[in-house]
Amino acid sequence: MQTDPSLAAQRSDTQRIGVPRETFPGEKRVATVPDVVEKLIKLGFSVAIESGAGEAANFSDEAYRAAGAEVLPDAAALWAASDIVFKVRPPCPEEVGLMRQGGTLIDFIWPAQNPELMQQLAARKATVLAIDCLPRTLSRAQKMDALTSTAGVSGYRAVIEAAHAFGRYFNGQITAAGKVPPAKVFIAGAGVAGLAAIGTAANLGAIVRANDTRAEVADQVKSLGGEFVKVDYEEDGSGGGGYAKVMSEGFQAAQRQMYAQQAQDADIIITTALIPGKPAPKLITAEMVQSMNPGSVIVDMAAEQGGNCELTVPGEAVVRHGVTIIGYTDLASRLAKQSSTLYATNLLRLTEELCKAKDGVAVVNMEDDAIRGLTLIKDGAITWPAPPLKAAPVPAPKAAAVPVAEKKNGHGHGAGAPMSAKALTLIFCVAAVLFWCIGAYAPAAFLSHFTVFALACFIGYMVVWNVTPALHTPLMSVTNAISSIIAIGALVQIAPPDGVGGGRPDELIRWLAFAALVLTAVNMFGGFAVTRRMLAMFRK
Ligand code: NAI
Repeated sequence: MQTDPSLAAQRSDTQRIGVPRETFPGEKRVATVPDVVEKLIKLGFSVAIESGAGEAANFSDEAYRAAGAEVLPDAAALWAASDIVFKVRPPCPEEVGLMRQGGTLIDFIWPAQNPELMQQLAARKATVLAIDCLPRTLSRAQKMDALTSTAGVSGYRAVIEAAHAFGRYFNGQITAAGKVPPAKVFIAGAGVAGLAAIGTAANLGAIVRANDTRAEVADQVKSLGGEFVKVDYEEDGSGGGGYAKVMSEGFQAAQRQMYAQQAQDADIIITTALIPGKPAPKLITAEMVQSMNPGSVIVDMAAEQGGNCELTVPGEAVVRHGVTIIGYTDLASRLAKQSSTLYATNLLRLTEELCKAKDGVAVVNMEDDAIRGLTLIKDGAITWPAPPLKAAPVPAPKAAAVPVAEKKNGHGHGAGAPMSAKALTLIFCVAAVLFWCIGAYAPAAFLSHFTVFALACFIGYMVVWNVTPALHTPLMSVTNAISSIIAIGALVQIAPPDGVGGGRPDELIRWLAFAALVLTAVNMFGGFAVTRRMLAMFRK
């Protein structure tokens, strides 16, 4: 890979991207797919693929060939022929040995966990871009965010695994043989994977509840069809950048109590709680597992980091106290075609950033925050970790942890506390004096309009304020439909009642009124139809 733009300009030949078969046992994903191969070729690169690399994800050698890739017989030929290698799992020492001196690798690397691998790659004078080190807070980087696409697929698959192990329907049903209650699913941690799991379980018809230490996710949980269950302890868990922080002892005790209640009630628990760089918080104890109904299921997505459940065995599904505990660490690979396609698209977006000239030569621009963040090694020199990004403005810190009970006693005066009785009385008095002045001195015509205006404000406030944020879009479309009340104006113009407008209108006004009526009708019927369809998405 060229790391200096001027050098890139001098170079006339284009680079070859190679994709080997994944060697990690059981890994079914592949780093590119035929559709993406075509797009990489349009960027000016040539593409080579190891024979059979896409087989486990249902992409045949023929499909890659048809897309324009060259299929090479084995790993040695592939690594030797590639300027840039795309991979999914970090390379093993044998693969590093096959790599070209000065070659480039784009891959998941997890540098903090793999210091030896970093040294081996540096010794080969490689340039290494780790997709797991992408600065996720940059909105420009979202299209390259493979961690998010992987977690989304895995959250979906966690629900499917749970459904497979669970002996009942997810949705409630009334059958001739009797009534079936809906399954109750509890999700611990509503990050990317947790939200995907909430949406999937709700779509299958289950009753979904979720908890997270970051209060800001409550609305997202609701909009996906879940209910956010709060811990009865006032403390926000945001640690910045969309990640969580370690909670206080008091919070953890209150959370354990709430989780114990949920465990008794839930049929399925999916745990996704994670604080980056820390072992997974233990949220589900052995006693909680014991309190669950036999036949219940726990999917512990954090198994690789030690698990959120005390009884999880990483990589395995085990039965403890009649509860199936699934600790698979390869959920994305179990949906290989989908996750390979998303991962390949993330890498394509990254390649577009590296090759803005579309000349088949990738250029690492260390001035670019996103590229700098994920560059671990450049021409053999370790550049990881990247300096922290310029901090975005941080919201003012909230008051220190205060138990809810204390706040109820009248000591909580944090942001969002209800207005004091004194302030309310003052506002009401000022408003009353203002209304009296308007009533006493304003002209009669103004008064009638003002009354309508005040009533409209009141009704508007009551309607909008009581609607949950998730339903604001359908609310907008229905109010748009209602605004078609202006149709009455058009009707009056087409056939004015006696005394309005001096009798029959002239032809031009009548045609204009007719056109207005047609357009308003489209707005009216269209608005109601769109609202109906939107509301249908929220119904179970
Ligand atoms: P994320 O960082 O987006 O979400 C984690 C969530 O857990 C955050 O919302 C955080 O606020 C919450 N959390 C942290 N501590 C908590 C606590 N004590 N109580 C309640 N909530 C808490 O992470 P993401 O991407 O959603 O991944 C979730 C987990 O799934 C990770 O452990 C990840 O390694 C794992 N994962 C597992 C896969 C598998 O195959 N098993 C595949 C992909 C991800």
